[in-house]
Amino acid sequence: MAWSDFKKPLVCLAPMDGITNTAYRQIVRRLNKHVILFSEFTSVDGLLRSEHVRQRLDYHPSEHPFFMQVFGNNPAHFAETAKMIEDRGIMGVDINMGCPAKKIVHSQHGSALMKDVDTACRIIEAIKRACSLEVSVKTRLGWENANNLIRFGKTLEAAGVSLLTIHGRTYKQAFKGEANWGPIYELKEHLRIPVLGNGDVANHVDGLRKMNNLDGFMIGRKAIGNPWVFRDSRKYPEPTLAERSVIAIEHYHLLRQIKTERVALVEFRKYLGEYVQGFRNAKGYRQLLMTVKTETDFLHLMEQLQRVEPEIVLAQAS
Ligand SMILES: Cc1cc2nc3c(=O)[nH]c(=O)nc-3n(C[C@H](O)[C@H](O)[C@H](O)COP(=O)(O)O)c2cc1C
Repeated sequence: MAWSDFKKPLVCLAPMDGITNTAYRQIVRRLNKHVILFSEFTSVDGLLRSEHVRQRLDYHPSEHPFFMQVFGNNPAHFAETAKMIEDRGIMGVDINMGCPAKKIVHSQHGSALMKDVDTACRIIEAIKRACSLEVSVKTRLGWENANNLIRFGKTLEAAGVSLLTIHGRTYKQAFKGEANWGPIYELKEHLRIPVLGNGDVANHVDGLRKMNNLDGFMIGRKAIGNPWVFRDSRKYPEPTLAERSVIAIEHYHLLRQIKTERVALVEFRKYLGEYVQGFRNAKGYRQLLMTVKTETDFLHLMEQLQRVEPEIVLAQAS
């Protein structure tokens, strides 16, 4: 399926390391039929070397449309990995050219590719030669400013990418300050391929408002533990605490299919802030959930949330 075949707006779960694994993607899909799902980023070198890393290619058929995000800097390794991704039936390869983490950039991966346009293009071309998958890129406004964004976008388009996602911050900003969508709107005027905006989208309605002339948007942080964020709040009520608890438990069981009990209990803490909120003493409750030692205790506490007395549930924000 080509990017141009998708119905607009393209509403996407942003790739997030440690968050958007198959368990969470399945939960987002359960509540949202049309959201486009991206995996967390995965090293192409890791995929080639390690059976353990290759487990990241496992996904549930319900996740489609599902795209795999990868990072690295060796065009031949990208090509080999893309073939593996294609063989698994995944819809496309998204190349990370935006991660600002020191370890990633020092290895000439992620954001470093904004400065090494030649390698960036050779990676795209190598993937396109190796398979017939859709190739997209997720990047940032630029290194220090957005002055080079249009030139960079046009170069990637000419190399063969069929979709670009721009996080409205520079490498230097990392996650500081507010995302600036202005340069992304301008970039769109110069490209034929679809362009997605990303950065500080609070919910579906906010995404529609921010996207302006773009083809869609990605939601990242606000989607952590909040798979309802993609629903149009003008049509759907906010989930109740009991609903959140039911979905959180389902999510935990899915996570357990890919992680041990000890690891799942620790990793699930990342999602608790959003799942467990909106009632008196929610903070104390979260602290309990963060420190439980066994799955039995965790699930018991989670189930209790379905029976919280209405008078201690706080009014849901609209
Ligand atoms: C915990 C976390 C992990 C992330 N991992 C990735 C990643 O693997 N690949 C990527 O392209 N961006 C990653 N990002 C960046 C997000 O995809 C997104 O660009 C950024 O959070 C801005 O969008 P937001 O304001 O909606 O969160 C990550 C962000 C967070 C918070």
